[in-house]
Amino acid sequence: MDHASLYRVVDSAGQPSPWEQTVMIESVSRELQRYKDHFEEMVQERVLEIADTLWGTVSSLVHLAETQDEAARGHLRRLSDSCRVVASVLTFSSVYSEQLNYEFIYQLQQACLLHDIGKVGIPDTILLKPGKLTREEFDEMKKHTTIGAETLRQAYPRFQNNGILKMAIDIARSHHERWDAKGYPDGLKGDDIPLSAQIVAICDVYDALRSVRPYKPAFTHLESMLEIRRECGTHFNPAVCDAFSHCEEEIRHIYDINSK
Ligand SMILES: [Fe+2]
Ligand SMILES: [Fe+2]
Repeated sequence: MDHASLYRVVDSAGQPSPWEQTVMIESVSRELQRYKDHFEEMVQERVLEIADTLWGTVSSLVHLAETQDEAARGHLRRLSDSCRVVASVLTFSSVYSEQLNYEFIYQLQQACLLHDIGKVGIPDTILLKPGKLTREEFDEMKKHTTIGAETLRQAYPRFQNNGILKMAIDIARSHHERWDAKGYPDGLKGDDIPLSAQIVAICDVYDALRSVRPYKPAFTHLESMLEIRRECGTHFNPAVCDAFSHCEEEIRHIYDINSK
C-alpha cells in the first residue's frame, strides 16, 4: 500500500469510497451550518474590518495634510490623546458615565481627527492670514463647522451605522459651541452640545493656547490652565472642566512629547 492510500480510502477505480464520500458530505454540511449560524456575525466582522481600513486611510490622509502646515504639526495626535484621557476621567462622572463607554472613547479618538475638515472650504487668504481676522473674515472662517459637517454627512448614507462618522459629524459642527450658548454655528446651550464636541472643544482650546499663533505667543501650561479655568461654566461645561483639571499633568505631558 502506497502512502496516499494510507490517508485516502479509494476503490479499485481510484474513486472515493462510500465512507470517504460520507465524511466529505458531512464536512461540507458542517461548514454550511457554520456559515448559516454565524452569517450575520461574519458579515458584521467584515464590515468592521473594512471600516477600520477606511478609517486608517482617512486618518493617514488627515495626518499627511497636517504635516504640510508647520504650526499644526502634531496637533491631531495631541488632540486625539488628550480627548481619550479626558473622556476616560469623565467615565467616573455620575452624569456622563452612562454615555462614556469604551466604544465612545474609541470613536472619539478617531472622530476628533476630522474636527476641522471643513477648513478645506475656506480660502487660504483667511486661513493663513498672519494677523487678526476682520469681522467678515471671521464670519467666513466660522463656516468651516457647517462645511465640515455637511461634507461628512454626504458620506453617511454609504456608511450607515458607522459610529465614528456619526460622531465626526457632531464634532465638526459643534466643536465651537459654548456651554453658555454664545458659540457657533447653532448657539447650542449646555448639554444640547454633543458631549464628544464638548470634550474636543476644551482639548482644542488648550492646544491652541499652548501653541504659537500669528497673533499670540505660546502660553505655558500654567497660563493655559488659568485661562481654561477662567472659562469654566461659560465656554466649557464645569464637569468637563473638572475632568480636564484632574488629568492636567497627563495633558501637559501629551503636549510636551508631541510638540518637538
Ligand atoms: Fe475649528
Ligand atoms: Fe484644532
